Amino acid sequence: MNYAALMKDMLADADKAPAIFSPGPYWKPHADLMIGLVERHGIEKFRAIPDKALIAFATGNQFKPPASRALKLNDALRRLPVIGRFSDALARDVDIGYGRARSEANYKLHVVFALLQEIAPDLAELKESSVGNPPVFSIYERSFSEMFLLKLLEIALLRQHVDFENIKNVVEVGGSYGLVGEILRKRYPAIRYTLVDLAPVAGFAQYYLSNVFPGGVSGFGEKTDAAIHIRCAHQLPEIGDHFDLFINVASFQEMSAEQVAMYANFARTHSDIVYLNNNRKSGSNGLTTDDYARLLQPMERAASWNSTLHEGYQPVLFRMPGK
Ligand SMILES: C[S@@+](CC[C@H](N)C(=O)[O-])C[C@H]1O[C@@H](n2cnc3c(N)ncnc32)[C@H](O)[C@@H]1O
Repeated sequence: MNYAALMKDMLADADKAPAIFSPGPYWKPHADLMIGLVERHGIEKFRAIPDKALIAFATGNQFKPPASRALKLNDALRRLPVIGRFSDALARDVDIGYGRARSEANYKLHVVFALLQEIAPDLAELKESSVGNPPVFSIYERSFSEMFLLKLLEIALLRQHVDFENIKNVVEVGGSYGLVGEILRKRYPAIRYTLVDLAPVAGFAQYYLSNVFPGGVSGFGEKTDAAIHIRCAHQLPEIGDHFDLFINVASFQEMSAEQVAMYANFARTHSDIVYLNNNRKSGSNGLTTDDYARLLQPMERAASWNSTLHEGYQPVLFRMPGK
């Protein structure tokens, strides 16, 4: 499969859809950059490319300096006499900074793993795929990326409020490349999972989940009866299913207020339970958790808890009365 071509098809199709489904101003410039990166580097290592266009949809920290123009210039200056010594010192400081960030992450992830073993040992047992070649940490002889472990913790905390044995159909809006789908399908194989994200981000999800679950994905433009469905945002009106659980994490906070209202309307008409984890007040659209509650009525706020990792975030659960 040529994924750059698939992503271009997704974008061309999205261009014909109503503007409400277009990427907001934050995402628009990233779309073309993403496809250019796939053409240049191949999609196989998309989780290892230290470029902000990919990191923006949560591929994770790379723990190494980005290929910025400033650092390239500094590298060139290192060869010069006298000035080179300052550039050398700067390059060393940058390396030390990234080394420390990695070692702090290593420490944090050991704590996260220990917590998981305590509150969700079955989730801690799950094995992460290496598709996309993410930077990994060795944790008691297991290998984990930062993003996978943090997602495991998020699901473990959500599970304290939702009985996943009764959840059969999940939709995630803004699911990025599909870690939630990977975890849910590995732990609960009876769950059907639909991921909705912008064109062309959904192309990364199609690549990732098709490789983690070969033959188990219905991709863009396909209508097979698979357990995993990848859909672009502009295909939302075609989704007629009813879902037990709607998920949105770190994503409503970066959409326009109109887009959030549209997805909230979809959530309250197509699902029984809604899990949101976004900034308490979005810095870009100004919406708060209370606004989400208003938009989701008649759903009722059933639970909220503190985010262990981002203090500004508010994990919150809404339920249709009686569900
Ligand atoms: C910061 S990432 C978070 C990804 C993932 N939910 C996580 O927790 O790691 C935000 C995601 O929202 C998606 N997104 C932004 N605007 C969207 C829209 N209008 N419709 C669907 N997805 C959108 C982005 O493409 C991206 O994958």
